[in-house]
Amino acid sequence: MPGVRDHASHTGIQRFTPNAADAEMEELTPYWLPFTPNRLFKKEPRLLTRAEGMYFWNAQGDRLLDGCSGLFCCALGHGRREIIDAISQQYAELDFSPPFQYSHPRALELAGMLADVTPTHLDRIFFTNSGSEAVDTAMKIALLYHRSRGEGQRQRFVSRERAYHGVNFGGVSLSGMVKNRESFGPGLPGVVHMRHTWLEANRFARGQGEHGAELADDLRRFVNLYGADTIAACFVEPIAGSTGILVPPRGYLKRLREICDEHGILLVFDEVITGFGRTGKAFAADSFEVTPDIITMAKAITNGVIPMGAVAVAKDVYECITAAAPEGMIEFFHGYTYSAHPLACAAGIAAQKIYREEGIFERAARLAPHFEQRVFELSKLPIVQDIRSYGLLAGIDLEPGESAGARGYAALQRFFAAGLVVRVTADTIILAPALIAETEQLDRILEIVSQVLTSL
Ligand SMILES: Cc1ncc(COP(=O)(O)O)c(C=O)c1O
Repeated sequence: MPGVRDHASHTGIQRFTPNAADAEMEELTPYWLPFTPNRLFKKEPRLLTRAEGMYFWNAQGDRLLDGCSGLFCCALGHGRREIIDAISQQYAELDFSPPFQYSHPRALELAGMLADVTPTHLDRIFFTNSGSEAVDTAMKIALLYHRSRGEGQRQRFVSRERAYHGVNFGGVSLSGMVKNRESFGPGLPGVVHMRHTWLEANRFARGQGEHGAELADDLRRFVNLYGADTIAACFVEPIAGSTGILVPPRGYLKRLREICDEHGILLVFDEVITGFGRTGKAFAADSFEVTPDIITMAKAITNGVIPMGAVAVAKDVYECITAAAPEGMIEFFHGYTYSAHPLACAAGIAAQKIYREEGIFERAARLAPHFEQRVFELSKLPIVQDIRSYGLLAGIDLEPGESAGARGYAALQRFFAAGLVVRVTADTIILAPALIAETEQLDRILEIVSQVLTSL
């Protein structure tokens, strides 16, 4: 193996010294990591080898607190016995079932459970394998719905700056993040972006900021500019997650709903992060008391254990689409080989049972004030420029270092060395602890964050 190894690393993980050539580092592994600076990572890999409850372990046996539920997935922490057993049983019983023209009992059961937990009339469930697929599926449903009701000219989508809707071409077209778009061509035609909702006036606001409801009027401006009858749907994350936990200003989502209602535009909430108790209720739609026409979800459906996404669709949207197709014909020419995969369904059913039986969403609501209190204690650190928090989600903006993201990356490295796994995006730290966290574990997460930020 080429390169010079440093066996004295304090993490104990074998690493190349910085003077090793990039080409040699590339030989470290054929693995191409997503959304990761591969060359940098391969100089100092962060490998996790085991997980249980609120903790990960690395290969050397060091225990690390999971401050971000994996990647907003593991709301119940890691290694829940009931989920493991459900998957094993399902594998022994029915490992695969073709999803087109056939189905299986677990798909029906999970669809029913999701229909019960989503806002009342969003009770038609289409399964995908990821959040990205859920978003692209929702875009197609919106187009098909309008075509079914004789308004096929409604092909425009409204999204927002600083939006993240996954990485498939539909979601990238909706994306409000330059790096996720710039290399991949123009994307779908006819996607327009409202302004994002981060406002100086709301800095350090706890929960929803008082300023900015009028930003929703950007949607009205698009109606006036392009004509309502060209717009199919408005997609928003109720809380923009990946760009730093942007909590919607008070009244903003309600105003979006009103404008959509006035103009026959579908409102889609992308709840891939905010779904399943993250905001203290089942969905952010419940927390903010605004009901969209479609909700996209993924991640915590199965507690992150088996990939799965889903789209919850209003009954009248589903019925309009099915009624428009001739009897006996396929209504929606769309689906994935692994839609409603039996193992994912088994994991999803087990996770949903635990959410319900253990009152996990209510638990998150009870933990949220303590979490917020501890997170906002960071505001006294000079390096912290803004904090936003809602439920068990928080975004902490750091003053940038010599280049954008450098300080965030340094923080990530130090967190790892100090025993904490979190998500860092550019110079923003994102916390999203599991909903089963104990207050002492939340305190420990915030203690490590505080120590590391003080050291930067
Ligand atoms: C709001 C939102 N939509 C879509 C996605 C994409 O989900 P996935 O990575 O499962 O494709 C994410 C991922 O974090 C997300 O946060």
